[in-house]
Order: sequence, then C-alpha cells, then structure tokens
Amino acid sequence: MAQDQWTAVDNYINDRLLPPDPVMDSVLQASQAAGLEPINVAPNQGKFLHLLARIQGARNILEIGTLGGYSTIWLARALPPGGRLVTLELNPKNAEVALANIAHAGFAHCVELKLGPAAESLAQLSAEGRGPFDLIFIDADKQSYPVYLSWALKLSRVGSQIIVDNVVRRGEVVNVSSTDPRIPGTRGVYDFFAKEPRISATAIQTVGIKGYDGFAIGLVIA
Ligand code: SAH
Ligand code: DHB
Ligand code: MG
Repeated sequence: MAQDQWTAVDNYINDRLLPPDPVMDSVLQASQAAGLEPINVAPNQGKFLHLLARIQGARNILEIGTLGGYSTIWLARALPPGGRLVTLELNPKNAEVALANIAHAGFAHCVELKLGPAAESLAQLSAEGRGPFDLIFIDADKQSYPVYLSWALKLSRVGSQIIVDNVVRRGEVVNVSSTDPRIPGTRGVYDFFAKEPRISATAIQTVGIKGYDGFAIGLVIA
C-alpha cells in the first residue's frame, strides 16, 4: 500500500517536473539490457543532485559508485563549461556500460571513470594532488562509507558538500541488532559527521519508487 502510493507520487512528480528525456531513458534502458541492478537514484533524486550542484556552482565533482552512469550524467549536466567529474567504479562491466552511457549523453570529454576499488582510487587521487572537489557524492559499497568519508573530507575545501546516498535503509539504520552487514557502515556515516567539527551535516528520509531510504548532506565549514 505505502509503496504503491510512493510510486504514484514519484510518477506524478516526474511527469510534472522532469521534461521528456530520451537520453536518460536510453541510459536506463541500456543499463537494464546489460543486466545491471536497478539501484540507480530515482529520476527526481537525480535531478535533486543536479540542482544541488548547480545551486553551488560546482565545477569539480567526485562520485564514488558509478553503476551505469545515471547519477553521473545528472551531475555532469550541472557542470559549467570547463567543469570536470571523476567517478569511481569497481565492476568492469558496470564501468563499460557507464562509459557508453556517458559518451551517448555527450559527457565523455569531461567525465573520467577510474576503474578499481574506490579506496585505492581515492588514495591515488589524493597522492596526485587532485581536488579539492566542490561536490562529492558517495553511493558505493555501504560497508566502506566511513573510509570514503575520510577521503572525501581530505579531498574537500571549505564550502565543499558531501552527499551520501542510502543512509536510512528502510529504517534499519536504527536497528542496532540488524543482521544486514551493511548497516554498521551506514551508522558509521552518522558517527563520522557527529564527531567531525569541520562538517555541518543533516540527513533526510526519502520515499519513492526506490522505496524508503535517505540522503545525508555535509557542508565543509572549517
Ligand atoms: N550512483 C549510481 C548507483 C551506484 S550503485 C546511480 O545512482 O546511478 C553502487 C555502485 O558501487 C555499483 O556499481 C558497485 O559496483 C560499485 N561499488 C561497489 N563496491 C565498490 C568499491 N569498493 N569501489 C568502487 N565501486 C564500488
Ligand atoms: C543498493 C545500493 C544503492 O546505492 C541504492 O541506492 C539502493 C540499493 C543495494 O546495494 O542494494
Ligand atoms: Mg544508492
């Protein structure tokens, strides 16, 4: 019952506020045809990320967890001329699908995909003196979220925003005896933000076509 209603309202929102988008339609179609899991952000969430990037005027974006490049393309669409996006993906098949989708969407020139474990790519970016990134979107393996947050902060400047997907997990985040091995990583997001004085953070619960979950957002303030 609840899920049907969330889906109906998401469809209403998307119908009213997201113009027909053949590029994004074909990106999702190609991802599905290649057998990728449908765990991309929802269309209205993708546009939400896009608007956050535009509001900020983000020129240098980092994404952790590419999948088929759906959220990547929403974020890349927010870049001004000369803007850059780096996205990190472990799975070679996902990366191959994503690169085709990113090229199809017209962003091959400004999006760089780094294949491999994100923790290694992050260490490499840091060692190469890359960054600071204006916006960092964390959406890969949930167990590693605390590690990704540490790198995200290192690769930030005052004014950077760090956005984290899947921080509610159907409410499992408050179930201290959850058997889901990913939940400690999710709770680690709150532990990290709670004790980091250089970041001001909040989180919101979301419902919609992707179920019940949430986003956290942290602003680097010092
Ligand atoms: N941001 C995407 C969805 C990402 S799904 C979107 O909304 O469109 C999570 C992705 O993280 C998957 O593609 C998965 O392969 C990748 N991933 C999982 N573990 C990873 C790791 N250790 N390093 C990098 N990517 C990883
Ligand atoms: C899963 C991962 C995601 O990033 C997401 O948004 C939804 C689900 C998952 O691994 O199940
Ligand atoms: Mg996610």
